[in-house]
Amino acid sequence: MKQNARVAALLLCLLAASCHKPTAMPNARRDIHSYSNPEQIRVRHLDLDCDVLFDRKILKGTATLSVERRVDSGAPPLILDTRDLRIEKVETSEENGEYSQTKFALGAVDPILGAPLTITMPPAATKVRIQYSTSPTASALQWLDPPQTAGKKQPFLFTQSQAIHARSWIPLQDTPGVRQGYSAKVRTPKELLAVMSAGNDPDAARSGEFHFRQHAPIPSYLIALAVGDLQFRPMGNRTGVYAEPGVVERAAKEFDDTEKMLRAAQDLYGPYRWGRYDLLVLPPSFPYGGMENPSLTFATPTILAGDKSLVSLVAHELAHSWSGNLVTNATWSDFWLNEGFTVYVERRILEKVYGRPREEMEAVLGRQDLEREMAKLPERDQILHIDLKGRDPDDGVTLVPYEKGALLLRSLEQTVGREKFDAFLREYFSHFTFQSITTGIFVDYLNKHLLDKNIHFPLDEWLYKPGLPASAPRPASDAFTKVEAQAKAWSAGETAASKIETGGWSTQEWLHFLKALPQQLTPERMHELDRVFSFTRTGNSEILEEWLLIAVRNRYEPAYPRLEEFLVTVGRRKYVKPLYEELVKTPDGKARAAAIYKKARAGYHPITVTTVDGILTPKN
Ligand code: BES
Ligand code: ZN
Repeated sequence: MKQNARVAALLLCLLAASCHKPTAMPNARRDIHSYSNPEQIRVRHLDLDCDVLFDRKILKGTATLSVERRVDSGAPPLILDTRDLRIEKVETSEENGEYSQTKFALGAVDPILGAPLTITMPPAATKVRIQYSTSPTASALQWLDPPQTAGKKQPFLFTQSQAIHARSWIPLQDTPGVRQGYSAKVRTPKELLAVMSAGNDPDAARSGEFHFRQHAPIPSYLIALAVGDLQFRPMGNRTGVYAEPGVVERAAKEFDDTEKMLRAAQDLYGPYRWGRYDLLVLPPSFPYGGMENPSLTFATPTILAGDKSLVSLVAHELAHSWSGNLVTNATWSDFWLNEGFTVYVERRILEKVYGRPREEMEAVLGRQDLEREMAKLPERDQILHIDLKGRDPDDGVTLVPYEKGALLLRSLEQTVGREKFDAFLREYFSHFTFQSITTGIFVDYLNKHLLDKNIHFPLDEWLYKPGLPASAPRPASDAFTKVEAQAKAWSAGETAASKIETGGWSTQEWLHFLKALPQQLTPERMHELDRVFSFTRTGNSEILEEWLLIAVRNRYEPAYPRLEEFLVTVGRRKYVKPLYEELVKTPDGKARAAAIYKKARAGYHPITVTTVDGILTPKN
């Protein structure tokens, strides 16, 4: 855009903003977590060509970026984000021209952001080819030795790019405000299969070389790769599961409802734009529950409960195919636009597929967990449009963007009615398809298309103030009311555990029961619960997590071996973090935590290591 046009556009924006309801905070488009300069020169396509070298634990190859100039004057350099990359050579070319070397410089390393790579761009250059390799400690990569996998015979590699880890395996403009398509050629050992966040071919042969193409423009945090001894099981025409041979059958059964969820989501919010929808079940060190990599959700094996009771995670990651992947947060301060919308959509899918009572239970658990977490958070972290200055965006990942965000949307739904709100959301997803937007852009759109002046809605309070507005919805569940009554009776000593009527309780009811127990329980009472309900031996990871937290808090020793086994095998941050936090509250708990961590650390993902290091050796 020409300078004059830019000024005019800016003025128009300001004018437009002042006509609508006021917003308390400016909403900068600039992403403070990227060194890049997309407003001057913007990456439009990535072509990756790399070898996966398990023996050296590195990726080595080239990234070729196609760029578009956004300013007419001068020849600004291309500034990319990197972290721990070894840059060997940088070349540029004009469209269909020859490549020739160009100058480049790696700047100073920032502990959160990594280092900027500044590349001199001849005025007519449209392509940049970077020859590089990653570091064995790249924050996005986990290299697993065979013993850390289910099959124990082959190594495994997976990436986790969100929030700002893509830069540790690909030099690019690592900001969700920039979208690119990508193609990739990946060479691996012959025994292994490679998959990426780009329509995978279910019939791909293990030839040692794999080709991928993602046509849709996506943000860098959605670029993903996994390599391992993977097998594929179809579940429907466009859905299937990748997992290690010993896991794939179980996974396909657990995720049997995926096609139903996909249809439910499409009915609500319009066409699914990503071709296939497959799931990849990773080894247990995967640091998250799930990651919404386009066409291929990455998932923890801890959701394989055997009874489909934890598949809300599939609904969640699938929901990101609209909220997050079609319409994306432009900066990490706008993260709630991804996760709040997604939790809302997830619950709508659950309601359609499993019925209203199930949705209600999940919503009640959501609000309850949010209130508990928020009580411990500083005020600045209770705000939806979060200030992340000087901080790692991974630190902004609390229940606030998820559950407070979802409550905001639920409140909008209740204010205008479901029919109107559904139509609005459908239109929103279609209007902003393949765009990255800020909270401010959302506010303007909302004020224009949903909220008129006669509706009082405390939008500024929701977005820019800590805590919850008084009008925040209070989800309720009849099933839970009955659970609470029994938990109360047992806690008061009015009934024995063996008399509690648990027949037919769902996982969500069990969780609610555990959360409704008093904080302090005597060893006898812990024994009683465990004798009757066998919590220590449960195969359901959510119930186990809740029970182990209670066990640590009450020093219930019979659960310690299971606690250790869980922490040594599972690296999911959501489970690991609260358990270590609970352990370090007492001196002997601290010693136990340190002893367990000594065994577990080598198997944890770099992200989980950073988290646990912070708990066991706090900086201040
Ligand atoms: N996109 C997130 C995971 C994520 C967030 C990774 C921020 C890195 C930085 C994913 O969709 C997610 O929210 N996963 C949740 C599960 C969900 C059911 C709440 C998780 O991993 O626990
Ligand atoms: Zn999510």
